[in-house]
Amino acid sequence: GWVRSVRSQKEVLFLHINDGSSLESLQVVADPSLETRDLTFGSAVEVQGKLVKSPHRMQNMELKAETIRVVGPCDVWSFPLKMKERHPLEYIRQFPHLRCRSNTLSSLLRVRSEATAAIHSFFKENGYVHIHTPIITSNDCEGAGELFKIEVSLAGESREKDHFFDVPAFLTVSGQLHLEVMAGAFTHVFTFGPTFRAENSQSRRHLAEFYMVEAELSFTESLQDITQVMEDLLKTATSTVLSKCPHDVELFHKYVAPAQKVTNATGKCCNPFMLISYSEAVEILKQAAQTFTFKPEWGCDLQTEHEKYLVKHCGEVPLFVINYPYDLKPFYMRDNEDGPQHTVAAVDLLVPGIGELCGGSLREERLHFIESRLQRYLDLRKFGSVPHGGFGMGFERYLQYLLGVDNIKDVIPFPRFSHSCLL
Ligand code: 4AD
Ligand code: MG
Repeated sequence: GWVRSVRSQKEVLFLHINDGSSLESLQVVADPSLETRDLTFGSAVEVQGKLVKSPHRMQNMELKAETIRVVGPCDVWSFPLKMKERHPLEYIRQFPHLRCRSNTLSSLLRVRSEATAAIHSFFKENGYVHIHTPIITSNDCEGAGELFKIEVSLAGESREKDHFFDVPAFLTVSGQLHLEVMAGAFTHVFTFGPTFRAENSQSRRHLAEFYMVEAELSFTESLQDITQVMEDLLKTATSTVLSKCPHDVELFHKYVAPAQKVTNATGKCCNPFMLISYSEAVEILKQAAQTFTFKPEWGCDLQTEHEKYLVKHCGEVPLFVINYPYDLKPFYMRDNEDGPQHTVAAVDLLVPGIGELCGGSLREERLHFIESRLQRYLDLRKFGSVPHGGFGMGFERYLQYLLGVDNIKDVIPFPRFSHSCLL
């Protein structure tokens, strides 16, 4: 492991060694004669000895060292992490190649790993088939034009041929359309993979490359079939993470975001999430004492400031907003056939501190409704078309929410090309 602290006393030498498996380090007790100049904070060591019951109340076991070998020395003066210091996330962000050696980032990455496993097992236990949807695709599911285009760069070759494939190809913005194909055979499917958006927003909520959890369900009857899965997924994944790595999560709730009350809001036995319609949301916003940068108006998109207000208004708990204006949403959302304020069966899940965490909808399965809207969607609607719907959840935003991390760059392993603004 790597040395987290060295404390040399007259009679005894204490080391704390961490191998990344947990926040806890192993205490090593050694004879001071085993100390060498290279045995410093940050060095990599191999220690042999006897694992014994520790007399200390704070730890179970300690290692009585017989040999200590420094495998890789560390120049403590130039090493940016310092012994026993709680470095802020902004500081360690400057060292993307070393920050995983800090307590904060290693806790975060363990939580990320547990959350990934928890999400996979939630779907597996509920009978979903996992589909690897393509990363390179020619479809623009959301139609928002925020695509990264694939280009070929072959040494010495002229740039005459624009694209490698016979059609322009892009990095995926969502696996939804591919999942819809599969939901037409497997009923319940999900995917959990990298997603790319060339959005030029320099926000704390947007990445160029992020992970999205997406589920697609066939034979749905109402939006409630979708909101129920979103709610169960969040509650189950959250309580699994809390039980698998309580100390890692606690570090964040204690030092990074002391106000975060995710446990109460999303723990397994908490109350059902709240639900309001988009129209109700606009009314609430219009009656708010607060003045917004963007004036709330029926037909306009909810801005982050609006989403945060709504969550606060509803008591800082996760909040579903359903039935958005028809004109605001992508072509695939199911027409509610209402009026005069025409809406679609869309749902966004808003959470405290973040705003939108999930977005989903019922899909327009009725051929004649969609015929006028899109050509390529059509075959799927001719051969055994059933009512269906699904949703997507931004995994990084989930981690931000779970741990109270303000900047999304702090919840990914390698932030180099994470954002339109490079580090
Ligand atoms: O709301 P979005 O755009 O929905 C879809 O893409 C649907 N096709 C999903 C589906 O129904 N299968 O994206 C889903 C979620 C958002 O709610 C947000 O949490 C996250 O993905 N997200 C981002 N996270 C980080 N950086 C970005 N640039 C993001 N864009 C969306
Ligand atoms: Mg959305």
